[in-house]
Formats: sequence, C-alpha cells, structure tokens
Amino acid sequence: MQIRDRTNSNHKPVRKAVIPVAGLGTRLLPITKSVPKELLPVVDVPAIQVVVEECVNAGIEEVIFITGRGKGGIEDHFDYNFELEKILERRGKLEELERVRSISQLIRTIAVRQKKPLGLGHAVLCARDVVEDEPFVVLLPDDLIGSEPSVTCQLIDVYEKYGQGVVSIMPVPEEEVSRYGIVTGENWAPSLHRVRSIVEKPDPEISPSNLAVIGRYLLPPAIFGFLEDQKPDESGEIQLTDALSKLARERALVGYEFTGRRHDIGDKLGFLTANISYALQRDDLGPKLLHYLRKKVVEADEQQSH
Ligand code: G1P
Repeated sequence: MQIRDRTNSNHKPVRKAVIPVAGLGTRLLPITKSVPKELLPVVDVPAIQVVVEECVNAGIEEVIFITGRGKGGIEDHFDYNFELEKILERRGKLEELERVRSISQLIRTIAVRQKKPLGLGHAVLCARDVVEDEPFVVLLPDDLIGSEPSVTCQLIDVYEKYGQGVVSIMPVPEEEVSRYGIVTGENWAPSLHRVRSIVEKPDPEISPSNLAVIGRYLLPPAIFGFLEDQKPDESGEIQLTDALSKLARERALVGYEFTGRRHDIGDKLGFLTANISYALQRDDLGPKLLHYLRKKVVEADEQQSH
C-alpha cells in the first residue's frame, strides 16, 4: 500500500480520522439485526477495512470510531487475535497468518461510545476530546468510493492548497436530492465551489441545487464549537449539515466535486454493486465473474425476446 508523504504542507497536518459506526443499518435488515453493517463483506474484506485502508493510504495516523451497542466486533477486527494467530501458525497457514496480523498493525484505533442516538453531528462531537485542536477527516462508512487517488487524498490535497474545511460533493438526479445534504454556492474553479449553505434532505421541489454532500469531509476543529451550539432538529438529532452551514457562513467551506465511483453500501442494491465492482477489479475473481455476468445478460436478453 502506498502511503502519501505530507511533510511539505504549510497547513496543520491532517492526522486523525473520525468514522461514525453507531448506525443501526435498518436499510439492510434482517442481516443487521445481529451483524454490524460495517462488518459486512466487500468480497472478503469487511467494508470498514476498506474505509480504514483509505485513511492509512492518505497518511492518516489515528482512526477514531464512534461506536454504539453491538459494534464491539469492529474494534476486534483491528486488534490482535492471539488465539487465531497461534492456530494458523501451528497449521502452517503462514499467508493467512500474515494477512490477519497485518490488519492489527494497520493503524492506531480509538473507540468512543456514542451513548445516545442523537445524530451524525452528535457522533462527530463525541470525538472532540480525542481530535483536540487539529483538522480531521470524517468518513461515513456507508459510502465506498473507488478512485485513485482516494477521495480522502483528494480532500487533503484541496485543504493543503486552500487551508479551509472541504466537503466532497457530487451531482445527483433531481428525484434523489431528498436523501442528501444539498449545497448552495458558487463554482469558482473547476470542481471547486464556495459553499454558502447546506440543506439536509430537501424536497425536490424546493431543493436549491442537485449537488449532494457525500460521506467524506475534512473539517477544522472549529466545527466542534458550531456542533456544541447546534440545537437538535425536529427528530431530536443534531445534524452535521446545520453546523457545516454555520461554518460556511461564518468562516469558509469548500465544496469539492470529487472524481470516483460511489456505492452506498447501506442500501441493498449499492451493497451488491459495490461487491461486483470490487470483485471485477481483482485478478483472482474479475475474469470469472465477468464471464458469469456476461452469460447472465445473454440469458436475460433471450428471456426478454421470448
Ligand atoms: C448523511 C448526511 C447527509 C449526506 C449523507 C451522505 O445522511 O446527513 O448530509 O448527504 O450522509 O451519504 P445519512 O445518509 O446518514 O442519512
């Protein structure tokens, strides 16, 4: 894995990542009744590992999981499992042993418990004492984004140039705006927008644009002050979107149209397309899977023409 060297920036380095993992995963029930959605596989790797590897690759040194009830398996996945290692060693399964060990050595992890389900803004606020006075990235693990360099790398590049908070954005079809935070602002350079405000999940009829915030953020520590002052919305949740809007108004916030293919793996179809897409990129599975998919398409075409 290639890790970015970021020693040349004029701005405070981005060393910490916050990953909220307390969500219930209701869109994926019944599997999420007992299995944390973050541990569901992307081929043979838990989704959360894909997201943590994105952090490692971007030069992040510490990951802060904001956890909830039943999510202990996520911490375990990044910890040593001595019993398993002993067994693999005894059986001479050295390749597997190396793979299992390397996950424990990936990065320093810290878990902070979000004791009440008070929303994404509250989850980020829970990281305040660990993040302290540093810029940090937030990655929502429902969003898997395949790109090279990763979106986290792209956000850090923008931050290193402008020294401001950055949110990743992408245009979405009009009928889907009510699933996202939607940005208003001006486009001042290719892929870059000065964010004026963000509205959380607007009705398509009154949506100010079709530019949606996606689950990668680079935030200044000042966001904690805005989150602390933020009143809960009508559903009782503290929205990150509202605090971001204040940050945009009172300081500055950049909206960055990233390049990359995004899968919402908190959704059943997105979970499936992510698995297909990641498997197709693998030498051991890609060609065989492609062959299978082609056969399926031919079969489906034949069925339709009958
Ligand atoms: C959250 C944010 C929303 C953002 C979305 C991206 O919503 O509140 O602003 O557009 O993530 O995936 P959620 O999907 O958690 O409802």
